[in-house]
Amino acid sequence: MAITILAIESSCDDTSVAIVRDGYVLSNLIANQDIHMSYGGVVPELASRAHQANIVPVTQQAFSRAGVKAEEVNAVAFTRGPGLLGSLLVGTSFAKGFALALDVPLIEVNHLQAHVLSHFILEKDKENMIPSFPFLCLLVSGGHTRIIVMKNHLEMEMIGNTIDDAAGEAFDKCGKVMGFSYPAGPLIDKLAVQGNKNAFAFAKPFVRGLDFSFSGLKTSFLYFLRDRIKEDPLFIENHKADLCASLQNGIVNILVSKIAKAAIQTGIREIGIAGGVSANSGLRQGMSEEALKRKWNLFIPEFRYTTDNAAMIGITGYYKYLKGDFSDHSVTPLARY
Ligand code: KG4
Ligand code: ZN
Repeated sequence: MAITILAIESSCDDTSVAIVRDGYVLSNLIANQDIHMSYGGVVPELASRAHQANIVPVTQQAFSRAGVKAEEVNAVAFTRGPGLLGSLLVGTSFAKGFALALDVPLIEVNHLQAHVLSHFILEKDKENMIPSFPFLCLLVSGGHTRIIVMKNHLEMEMIGNTIDDAAGEAFDKCGKVMGFSYPAGPLIDKLAVQGNKNAFAFAKPFVRGLDFSFSGLKTSFLYFLRDRIKEDPLFIENHKADLCASLQNGIVNILVSKIAKAAIQTGIREIGIAGGVSANSGLRQGMSEEALKRKWNLFIPEFRYTTDNAAMIGITGYYKYLKGDFSDHSVTPLARY
């Protein structure tokens, strides 16, 4: 019998609903919230209100796009956390209501695990490679920078974490200093292509083990600009591409050197990147070069699975369903998982 999962993602500012059948994505709809752009970051209260407005129409579209009826759903998977509490609450309540109405199991999903498991999503009419275990993954998003070892689909161990900002936050905060709107990562990536990555150098962190730090680089970037602007008020305007390329290079070097260290320490050669920042062209290129040099089997996600999406919640829900790992209806969202 086919296993059909309805998956709900509402941890931050994207409302996403997917239908996943036997590990294949039948539909994956995402409603973005442009409302946060002018605020320089996600405004939690506005995000939860937008989720409330979006979740029903997005779910309806996910069903019609997949050509699936509600009665065919075997379980409802939802993001329990980590994320913004108000946002998570909308998805959690909606998932509970749906599961109750259909009398099917409810499956809570850890958003971070789901980002990693996005590498196991199967595509209809497409032969895609999936990693084997153990799988070492660099998870880089606006809220997290972690090195994770997956021992199997459901067992994961975190072996590295940021001690301050996340990599995406470093992109966004430095972008804000240059006057870019939120999120700045994609624009920095775009401008970096035309710049010289060795034009400027910013502070490199000294963090032991497999942990990360980005606050030193951010401060060094800020002070560098402040000093240069004193001499030339149009410094940012005149050096935008070089600034973006150099900043991106600094962040990518921190990330690639730590995942390389983790690969040596663990002896794992099945390696992937996931999360919003894994869309970055510099990181993709840096990882590809490293993979060639170190003979890694590298997994780079398709762009649509880099940022928050419900397909990754669905694939995680599918593996939890196979294991009979269901949640009680008393389950509550967790800002920290
Ligand atoms: O995974 P995600 O969609 O949401 C979180 O869970 O945080 O990641 C969003 C982050 C933002 O910080 C955004 O600036 C960054 O991913 N991002 C990028 C790129 N695309 C998105 N950073 C650098 N280069 C990109 N191309
Ligand atoms: Zn995410």
